[in-house]
Amino acid sequence: MNVIWSSRVQGVRTLYLSRRLRFHDLFRQRYAPLFALDGDKPLKILEVGCGPGALAGALRRWYPRAEITALDRDSAFIRFAREHEPGVRFLEGDAAALPFADGAFDVTISNTVSEHIEPGAFFGEQRRVLRPGGVCLVLSSRRGIAVQAACLTPGEEEKRFWDKAAQSDDTFEKYAVGRYHMSEAELPAAMERYGFADVRTGYAAIGLTPDDPAFPPALAREMIDAERYGELDAIASTAWLERGDITDRDRQRMEALANARYDARLGQYDRGEKQWDTQVSVIMVVRGTA
Ligand SMILES: C[S@@+](CC[C@H](N)C(=O)[O-])C[C@H]1O[C@@H](n2cnc3c(N)ncnc32)[C@H](O)[C@@H]1O
Repeated sequence: MNVIWSSRVQGVRTLYLSRRLRFHDLFRQRYAPLFALDGDKPLKILEVGCGPGALAGALRRWYPRAEITALDRDSAFIRFAREHEPGVRFLEGDAAALPFADGAFDVTISNTVSEHIEPGAFFGEQRRVLRPGGVCLVLSSRRGIAVQAACLTPGEEEKRFWDKAAQSDDTFEKYAVGRYHMSEAELPAAMERYGFADVRTGYAAIGLTPDDPAFPPALAREMIDAERYGELDAIASTAWLERGDITDRDRQRMEALANARYDARLGQYDRGEKQWDTQVSVIMVVRGTA
């Protein structure tokens, strides 16, 4: 039972809610030309490092003829994914030692995973389980745009809490988070070095602006709440820090302050007081052939 990522790095809600927006059906056509998959074929697709399963769920909707398998080593993510994304085979396992035969898949795909796994193992294992001519898709997040509504700015008490937490936070070093980060030039070069052919790159810009009337109210509220739950998960994860002077009471107080800010933002949205706050994610898609 491994729950390190979900409890200490990014919680279930943080990943599921943000990815459900990032891979919402509204944005399907941004990804389709970059994936360049033949949806008429009964493709066998493997998602590596699937987290709580939002991308796997999108692939199931976008490629209904495909058979989708998704793997992660965090048991809490796999449990959640099985409950929330029917029609996908979710498995606990290690991306660096995939439990599949050589040539078992037509497509492998991952989102924000390549930067956490040693590249020889990451690319080598996917190349092994792909059939000759199979497609490897590596998605990663690049510098985007984040403009927050004024009412969401944390107050002095919250800033003090985060300064204190940061002083003892070695989570990223401890769990190799982002250890293998590569630039926009290094990532395709690595894919070629590990034996993939016809390597291509492309970018999808996904803009989330609650006040934009293009987004229906339920989706706009989801955008605001995705940020809320990201913060609440981050507060909860401070329980793992080796700092005795951050107490459960401190965390409860931080939760109340964060909830008050997000409730205020939802109130503004409901009253039509536009803030035009926006989050633009830039997703790099690198595509290569085994
Ligand atoms: C940034 S998260 C992304 C999760 C998911 N792809 C998403 O976008 O929601 C990185 C994921 O990689 C998984 N991971 C890291 N190293 C792994 C490994 N060696 N084998 C399997 N999963 C791994 C973590 O458990 C985590 O779910």
